[in-house]
Amino acid sequence: MTTTDSQPVEVHLTPEDVAASLASDVRVGLTSDPKWLPAKWLYDQRGCELFEAITELPEYYPTRAERALLAAHAPEIAAVAPATTLIELGSGTSEKTRLLIAALQAQGSLRRFVAFDVAEPTLRAAVADLSEAHEELVVEGIVGDFERHLDRLSPGPGRMVAFLGGTIGNFDEPNRLRFFSTMAAALEPGEWLLLGTDLVKDPARLVAAYDDAEGVTAAFETNVLAVLNHELGADFDLERFGYVARWDPDLERIEMGVRSLGAQSVRILALDMKLELLDGEEISTEVSAKFRRVGVSRELAAHGFEMVGWWTDPDGDFAVSCARRSEAGGRLSDQL
Ligand code: AVJ
Repeated sequence: MTTTDSQPVEVHLTPEDVAASLASDVRVGLTSDPKWLPAKWLYDQRGCELFEAITELPEYYPTRAERALLAAHAPEIAAVAPATTLIELGSGTSEKTRLLIAALQAQGSLRRFVAFDVAEPTLRAAVADLSEAHEELVVEGIVGDFERHLDRLSPGPGRMVAFLGGTIGNFDEPNRLRFFSTMAAALEPGEWLLLGTDLVKDPARLVAAYDDAEGVTAAFETNVLAVLNHELGADFDLERFGYVARWDPDLERIEMGVRSLGAQSVRILALDMKLELLDGEEISTEVSAKFRRVGVSRELAAHGFEMVGWWTDPDGDFAVSCARRSEAGGRLSDQL
């Protein structure tokens, strides 16, 4: 753990850890068949800028929908879940976070805000901003990977963990279920998980949201190859890759990837690896699962959570659900 004098920020992930996990993820993913790369590597500085641009596209409704629903329903959320600590997974800079903080403060319970993010500079900026804006709150940061460090959350009781934006959709099913069980083990009975989920809808609208007319999403997904070029000394020629986004009706998820335009070989210096790609061969870059109320509530219940609230935007495109850690059964620490 490292702390600076001004804001308390716990660091569980150093730049060296990040570099090592990128190298190992890329080695595993690109020697698999089919080839894939984890979505978390999309977010270098350029990736963050492109994602910001995506959230403003006419086709990409989730950000607007979630913001609208929080603007309308944050006070009800606060009433259902009067948390003393709000922990946000993913950076705590957004207007959405502020809406939640304001509602929890208005209702009188909130004392502490904890931002949890992989990117240390983003996190430090968010923590500094928020502590300036909210002198009455204790504001802390945790630098970590929410697939690995959820056991390091600041102690309860009275915590609400917010995982917004629909990012849970980036997990495949086994990883999503693992996330719920880790979360259930990390929380005490009576604490809350606030989850943002994009909902199943007309596939044409879903595909448009992930394959916009301007090509911003294509640039965002293709940018992961530039990340490999910078970080691992790879020589991907981005011009020689197309972009694919399709709806899988069985898994109810959007699958995104890059497609090799022609057969080509790519060298990845830091991994001492030569990659042979066939003409048309795809590398999966991200999945974005879509949800239904029954499915979310069933998966939560299976992991010791009771859904105590479900809110959608007026168009019914996106949902935020609030789940309460049940008293009975299933705490991992109780089973050990
Ligand atoms: C940030 C994971 C919620 O899946 O909608 C948007 C990422 N990728 N367009 C999503 C994303 C392409 C986004 N999440």
